[in-house]
Amino acid sequence: MPFKYDFRKRRNTFRKVMGLLSKTKAKMMIETGTSREGLKGAKSNGAATIVFGKWASENAAFLHSVDINEKSVANAQTEVDKQKLNEWVKIHESDSVAFLDAFADKVDFLYLDSYDYSSNVEVQKKSQEHHLKEFKAIENKLHDKSIVLIDDCDLPNGGKGKLVIAYMLENGWRIEEEAYQVLLVREDFPY
Ligand SMILES: C[S@@+](CC[C@H](N)C(=O)[O-])C[C@H]1O[C@@H](n2cnc3c(N)ncnc32)[C@H](O)[C@@H]1O
Repeated sequence: MPFKYDFRKRRNTFRKVMGLLSKTKAKMMIETGTSREGLKGAKSNGAATIVFGKWASENAAFLHSVDINEKSVANAQTEVDKQKLNEWVKIHESDSVAFLDAFADKVDFLYLDSYDYSSNVEVQKKSQEHHLKEFKAIENKLHDKSIVLIDDCDLPNGGKGKLVIAYMLENGWRIEEEAYQVLLVREDFPY
């Protein structure tokens, strides 16, 4: 990825995740909340659809990215086309919880980054509840070597991950890295 795409506060966690994805030989990846600004959003939203889409293209893996907003989907698709990633990335227009609930395959990597967080406390609670619902909807498709990354956590009142991280810690997961993004693996994760 060219240096001008400075991923700032996500750079180290993205790098760490990609190292683990290689070790676990991840094949099936899901992102909730797609790259609505394409690669231009590298410094703001993260551009994870392209980051992990490129990783998928280099490692014979596949990324599903789901978003409820038509415009976000269209913008992400434009960037996926531009980067020639269609063989490895599919963007879905759907509510993420419904999508995850219906997903049939095992998931090696889950990236939660949908319902926008804000300074409004009510929105914060809804965002936290939504990310917990996402996890619960796909929980039974995760396995011993699955990797979970949650965006926008180091924010007032706990960020997007507050409820889902608490739930995961009570249910056999541990924090592998805690920064702006939080990276979690199973307690007996072998790497
Ligand atoms: C912060 S952006 C995602 C950024 C992206 N992950 C990246 O790295 O560039 C959040 C996205 O979540 C989407 N979103 C909000 N509520 C959602 C829901 N219930 N289901 C799916 N997507 C949702 C929004 O439409 C928006 O495009």
